[in-house]
Amino acid sequence: KWEEHIKPCPYTPHVAVITGAAQGIGKAIALRLADDGFDIAIADLSSQQEKLDEVVNEIMKKGRKAIAVPTDVIKESDVIFLIQRTVGELGGVDVMIANAGILRLGTFLEMTEETYDLVMNVNAKGVMFCYKHAAVQMIRQKRGGRIIGASSTVGKQAAPNMPAYSASKFAVRGLTQVFALEMMPHNITVNAYCPGFTLTDMVAHESDAFYGDGSPGSYLQHTSGIPKVAKAEPHVIASFVSYLCKPEAYFITGQSNSVCGGLTM
Ligand code: NAI
Repeated sequence: KWEEHIKPCPYTPHVAVITGAAQGIGKAIALRLADDGFDIAIADLSSQQEKLDEVVNEIMKKGRKAIAVPTDVIKESDVIFLIQRTVGELGGVDVMIANAGILRLGTFLEMTEETYDLVMNVNAKGVMFCYKHAAVQMIRQKRGGRIIGASSTVGKQAAPNMPAYSASKFAVRGLTQVFALEMMPHNITVNAYCPGFTLTDMVAHESDAFYGDGSPGSYLQHTSGIPKVAKAEPHVIASFVSYLCKPEAYFITGQSNSVCGGLTM
């Protein structure tokens, strides 16, 4: 019976893997989990190597172990290698944060097959590979675990101008619910976080196109009446993820929680 399996971790989890951790929300989660006592494997594209090295240094200054693993989450072999290196150098995997993601803007009618495939591959297929291969290792370890993915408020409620992105973030919620059910017997919780506007490069680079001018169909028009498009610093999302990784969060699974200043309810 699943209720016999979902229980507090019998030990303190201590190794986390975080993808898309060279900057933004992923980096904030890495630094926060280091403060919480985790050793950390940080993964990002090889083009982000310099930034990855900086994050490794910051974590080591906090007295924790860290390794940087160049990883493209679209490639299953990269994700398998990421887990293998983490096990080899840090001793196991207790927490997987599948955070890597990309945003492409444009209307539905403007969408190309190329854009659709790219966004779905990184944001949904990449999350699936990370969930799966982290879980294979956690099951082998027989000590439970925490699997957490990046969805979005637009994975809960439609937003203009980001059809593939929105679909990919809905997909993360679906993957999260199904996997939470399957992982119950292994004492592995599976959840997602749904940030609202968070001050990172992803949104900064797109801000004009993103917010629009209030005309019909623009984001500003779409969100009028909502306590005005509050923006969070990445550490606000990280503190929520930190809680999900704690032993006392054992009874939270299959959830996709918004951290969005009331943008969606
Ligand atoms: P960001 O653009 O600052 O960071 C994303 C990181 O993912 C980058 O370092 C990038 O190199 C990495 N990445 C991209 N493709 C990759 C791949 N194929 N393999 C490995 N790494 C890859 O973005 P941010 O804002 O930190 O976003 C983190 C997550 O939170 C994303 O999944 C994003 O969709 C989600 N999110 C962000 C929101 C925001 O307002 N910033 C709102 C809702 C969700």
